Formats: sequence, structure tokens, C-alpha cells
Amino acid sequence: MSTQEASITPARRQVIAAAGAVACGAALAGCGGGESAAAAVPPGIKGKVVARTADVPVGGGKVIAKWKIVITQPSPGVFRAFSASCPHRGCAVGRVGDGVIRCPCHGSEFAADSGKCLKGPAEAPLVRYALRVEGDGIVMV
Ligand code: FES
Repeated sequence: MSTQEASITPARRQVIAAAGAVACGAALAGCGGGESAAAAVPPGIKGKVVARTADVPVGGGKVIAKWKIVITQPSPGVFRAFSASCPHRGCAVGRVGDGVIRCPCHGSEFAADSGKCLKGPAEAPLVRYALRVEGDGIVMV
């Protein structure tokens, strides 16, 4: 054992080890990006009613496979639309619940209010689309 190693007390070693574990955890989590700005909707769905507000639960969401989008309602009356294509390897995101959009392929998670990546391996947020609520319809704009 070197002089320098001997001078590190067990308590200090634990602190250093814990800091290393946190740093490794952050690196493994991926998720380098923040939330995305609203992007242009894919051709063919602009102006279309893609869902009814009643179909999108508060705190949850609805994946619409036909349009490859996911609509969420993070708080009552607030709706968001995102691409359902996971930025990791392109799987369609699956479940939405407790304010989180989850990808079934490798476990990435995204915030249902912003699309921000919460857990990797994805390193970027979901692409966000603009929408408008007309009556009980959710319209892509
Ligand atoms: S494709 Fe979604 S986590 Fe890998």
C-alpha cells in the first residue's frame, strides 16, 4: 500500500466509491438531451383528429400505432403529442402511466409532459408535435 493510499481513511474511501457509483450510474443512464421543441408533424396527419380527449387518461396516454404518435395528458386538460418512435433504436413506445412514457425494447423512459429522456439507453428526448384541442377532438397542427 502506498503512502497516499494509507492516508485515505475508510470513510473517505466510501465517499469516493459512492461518488464513482453515482458518476457511473449517470453515464449508464444515457439521456443526454433535454426536451425537444415542437417539430413539424409527419405528412398526412396535419389537421386530422387523432384521438378523443376522453381516450387519454390524466397522468397517462394513448399510443396511436396508425399514426406512430403518443398523446399524453400530464395534467387535467393539458395534452401533448410525441412521436412514438423511441430515439434509441426506433421501437414504438408502449405504456404510459404515472407521467412516464416507457419503451418496451430496452427500458428507456420519457417524461409525459415534455418528452424529456428520464432513463436510457436512449440519449435524446421524444420528438414533440404541436396539437390543438377542438371540442373533444385532439387535432395535429
Ligand atoms: S428502442 Fe427504445 S429503449 Fe431501445
